[in-house]
Amino acid sequence: MNTEPRCIVAPSMLSADFSKAGEAVTMIGRTDAQWIHLDVMDGMFVPNISFGSKFIADIRPLSDLVFDTHLMVAQPERYIKAFAEAGSDYITVHAEACLHLNRTVSMIHEEGKKAGVSLVPSTPVSSIELILDDIDLVLIMSVNPGFGGQKFIPSTMEKIHQLDRLRKERGLDFKISIDGGVNESNGGLLVDAGVDILVMGSAFFGSEDREGLVKKLQGRTSG
Ligand code: DX5
Ligand code: ZN
Repeated sequence: MNTEPRCIVAPSMLSADFSKAGEAVTMIGRTDAQWIHLDVMDGMFVPNISFGSKFIADIRPLSDLVFDTHLMVAQPERYIKAFAEAGSDYITVHAEACLHLNRTVSMIHEEGKKAGVSLVPSTPVSSIELILDDIDLVLIMSVNPGFGGQKFIPSTMEKIHQLDRLRKERGLDFKISIDGGVNESNGGLLVDAGVDILVMGSAFFGSEDREGLVKKLQGRTSG
């Protein structure tokens, strides 16, 4: 059996019971998931409010996994330092939220962190073509951001193909991550299309066999 995972699985803490956040982090650590996805929402860029940098700083000592912070906030440049100091490894900002995206990406790198750029479903891949050389990750939203448990928007698939093509044509090595409505049924197809990271909230926390689900998505079991 192939033991090399074919993708990174990143359970999203947004779907955890926040009164048991620490237990959720420890539970994620018992699966083979490699990253923890942290959805920060400000009630402005998206209609919902989730948690801030203190939450991330508080759970940071509980895990050695990669902390993948997804900032769904307006003018995220105001908070890069705070989320870097809280212990994020990757900091992803929305292209739609940044007037000067190159400057924000530089700020993330200056903090010694990996920089990601995310696109909502209606934003085309062409909007970030000029910055692909400078970033470490592209996070494609496959739902309109703001809430867990929404349905995957199928047109997202074409955006993954486009990005994967651009990455190959230009010999770049940014990672492609997908976020929203990812589950056991579509995960494999997404990885086939070029996705490196599967973010998963409700499907992961709603599963009765989280360890098996992660292994299956990673291609480590035949199931
Ligand atoms: C949505 C967030 C997602 C969310 C995904 O705005 O960015 O990371 O947690 O949740 P599911 O997997 O339930 O769609
Ligand atoms: Zn997210």
